[in-house]
This record gives sequence, structure tokens and C-alpha cells, in this order.
Amino acid sequence: MAKKAINKVTIVGCGPGSKKYMTWYALQQINSAEVLIGSRRLLSLFPDTEADTFILNNNYKVLITRIVSLRKKKNIVVLVSGDPGFFSYAKLIIDKIDIENCEVIPGISSVQMAFAKIGRSWNDACFMSLHGRTAKLASVVKKIMENDKVAVLTDNSNNVKLIARKLLEAGLKERKIYICENLSLDEERIRKFDVSSILKIQVRDLNVIIFLDED
Ligand SMILES: C[S@@+](CC[C@H](N)C(=O)[O-])C[C@H]1O[C@@H](n2cnc3c(N)ncnc32)[C@H](O)[C@@H]1O
Repeated sequence: MAKKAINKVTIVGCGPGSKKYMTWYALQQINSAEVLIGSRRLLSLFPDTEADTFILNNNYKVLITRIVSLRKKKNIVVLVSGDPGFFSYAKLIIDKIDIENCEVIPGISSVQMAFAKIGRSWNDACFMSLHGRTAKLASVVKKIMENDKVAVLTDNSNNVKLIARKLLEAGLKERKIYICENLSLDEERIRKFDVSSILKIQVRDLNVIIFLDED
């Protein structure tokens, strides 16, 4: 007797946050999910889903265990922010169950959207993430010192003020800094500063920071 094929786990890049930036194919896959996994913010985009939902905080071990045990019986869709290939826990899932058992649907990354908003190309940019990674601060500062165009993901504790202080200590007060907050969401805000002004401002938690060496 032929063996029943095991469902692939679908990992959907949900873009920067507003549903209007998601692809039609991604929405179709979400619609046919039996189990929908994602952060509270992403799950709230689909209040009418008939799938069983599982809210992901930082419980990645539980996430992997659940996927491994459910994937033989159910059609699982995992929602990730932005693009699954860019600083995403999609990697943990693919490393664990292998790409042959996954379908990865790309999404618009927060950095793509940030560059679109400031009207710059991103093919010549460098990318780093401080999201949950205090230890990376020195490497981020080094990257900014060595490159003209650097985009950094931050969080509320590993934030742009920490970077700005280090840049001032290193004498890089001329860098221009774009702060791109809540992209595609309510209270979206795009602002441009010099390094010392950053120390005086309030920044929303969800942001992409772009450092440019320009006049
Ligand atoms: C874990 S990373 C995921 C990045 C995601 N894979 C991507 O391609 O955008 C989360 C970080 O992405 C950035 N981010 C995600 N959505 C954003 C948005 N709507 N506006 C600004 N930054 C966002 C923030 O820096 C946040 O801390």
C-alpha cells in the first residue's frame, strides 16, 4: 500500500505587518491551515481563522516540539514577520525538519520597506540585527564605521541610543540616521537625524535604523 505523504510545514513571510503587503498565495495558504502558529501580533491579522492557533512568545523549543509532533497529522502554517530568510526563527524550523519538509513563502522584509520609504536602493547595504542580541553591539558599531550604508534591526533594550553613544565616542558624529518605525502599521513614522540628536528622542519599539555616510 502506498504511504500517505506527510504534510509540508508552510512558513509564511507576513511582511512588515499590514495584511495589504502579503501575497495572495500566502493568504491562500493561511486560509487552508489546520494549525496556525505565530506571534500574537501576526495571529491578530486572522481573527476569523478556523485553524487551531498557537501563540508564540519566545518559546521556540515548544514550537519545534509541537511542529514535529503535529506535522504528520495536520496542515501547519507558521507565520513569521517580514521575510523568513532574514533574521527569522524560520531557520530553526528548517534546520530541525529539513527544507524538503517545508514550503517557505517569501515576504517583504522590514528592511526592504524601510529602504523603499527613504527612497534608497538596498543592493549595496550591509545588514545587522541587535534584536535580542546585546552582545552584537560592538560588531554593529564596527560595521557602521566601515560601511556607508548599514541597516540595523533593534529592540527596546538593544536600541539606537546605545549605538549613537558608541558612534559619538568613536568620533562619527556626521553619520545620518533614518529611524523607520511601525512600518505599514498605525503610527508609522520615518525620521532623519544626526547622531547627537538621537540621544534626545523617543523611539517606538518596532523599528529599522539606517545609517548613511552622506552630506
Ligand atoms: C526578529 S526580527 C525579524 C525580521 C523579519 N524577518 C524581516 O524580514 O523584517 C524583528 C525585527 O524586525 C524589525 N521589524 C519587523 N517589523 C517591523 C515594522 N513593521 N516596522 C519596523 N521594524 C520592523 C524590528 O527591528 C524588529 O525588532
